[in-house]
Amino acid sequence: MRTIRLKGVGFPVSAVCLGTAYLGSREDDETSFAIFDTYYEAGGRFFNTAHEYGDGNSERVIGKWLRARGIPREDIVLTSKCGEDGTRPDARAMHAEELLEDLDETLSRTGFDYVDFYLLHLDDVRVPVCEILSAMHEMQRQGRIRHYGCSNWSVARQKEAAAWSAAHGIEGFLIDEIEMNLTRLNVDNHAWHCNWLDGEYAAYHRQTGMAVGAYSPIANGILTKYLRDGDTRAWRPHAVKTYTNDYNFDAARRIGRLAEETGFTPTQIQMAWVLAQPFGFPCFPIVGARTPDQLRDSLGGLDCALTPDMIRYLRPEA
Ligand SMILES: NC(=O)c1ccc[n+]([C@@H]2O[C@H](COP(=O)([O-])OP(=O)(O)OC[C@H]3O[C@@H](n4cnc5c(N)ncnc54)[C@H](OP(=O)(O)O)[C@@H]3O)[C@@H](O)[C@H]2O)c1
Repeated sequence: MRTIRLKGVGFPVSAVCLGTAYLGSREDDETSFAIFDTYYEAGGRFFNTAHEYGDGNSERVIGKWLRARGIPREDIVLTSKCGEDGTRPDARAMHAEELLEDLDETLSRTGFDYVDFYLLHLDDVRVPVCEILSAMHEMQRQGRIRHYGCSNWSVARQKEAAAWSAAHGIEGFLIDEIEMNLTRLNVDNHAWHCNWLDGEYAAYHRQTGMAVGAYSPIANGILTKYLRDGDTRAWRPHAVKTYTNDYNFDAARRIGRLAEETGFTPTQIQMAWVLAQPFGFPCFPIVGARTPDQLRDSLGGLDCALTPDMIRYLRPEA
């Protein structure tokens, strides 16, 4: 698999990152191992998890798989995320001691002695950026994380964090993990679910060059399933709420037309759009899969080179 470089990072990462939110929990260890094997055999070395996923089972199964296969730790790049506590009504747990506790658990579950990228899973604007950044910097100073970043943060808070990092001579965020795909979401633009159409995030990343980890790059498979079935019957309930609108049905038709024209599958067209870095800054898809076959389909997007006209056609208003 080809690799890409991220600004400020001294090592390359695989162009497609493997999302593992449901591995080790909704998908059992056997299926999870088969998905890891498929990704690894395709040359993939970049894994994405979080302290919160599957109550820790995603982190656990990654460590278990690596040991079972005898793969050296340094052969892979691992992103995990801290600061979310699903047992709380607002899910935030972002005070310094909570972040440091999360890292202890992440390392113990994976059996690793460091994480390559540790991201803040959410934001909590009640906690000052100085407290959060001091905790992340401390983890880095101890050699337990190599770099850090954020996920689901507003541009305004990211700017505040960047200003504080610069003023205190620390590295600051190198990755922003955020939803990015060809859909339009049924939510107002806010930090948890940002809508790329507003251009604010794109402008910030174009200006800073900071990398984006694009989660849900195929929008949970809903556009592919809509094209296959002609309706939303196979969508999961949360997807029906988030993605049902005419814009997305039109987007599916555009994807379907390009799939017919190029011979790639609808999923591959969507992956290729993210891989084309259509906004002009480094971004990499973080793709999920329930089966090895789904993953193989998505990875096929690496072979699909979209022309500038095709990129514009897929997102005419961008
Ligand atoms: N930072 C954050 O807040 C955040 C949030 C969400 C996700 N993430 C990360 O991003 C990763 C991926 O996210 P995601 O699972 O939401 O996104 P995704 O990659 O857009 O969707 C994956 C889902 O799409 C369906 N699918 C996959 N291949 C398909 C194919 N060929 N045809 C039809 N359907 C297909 C499967 O759902 P079915 O089981 O329904 O078939 C699969 O579980 C996560 O694992 C996680 O690591 C991060």
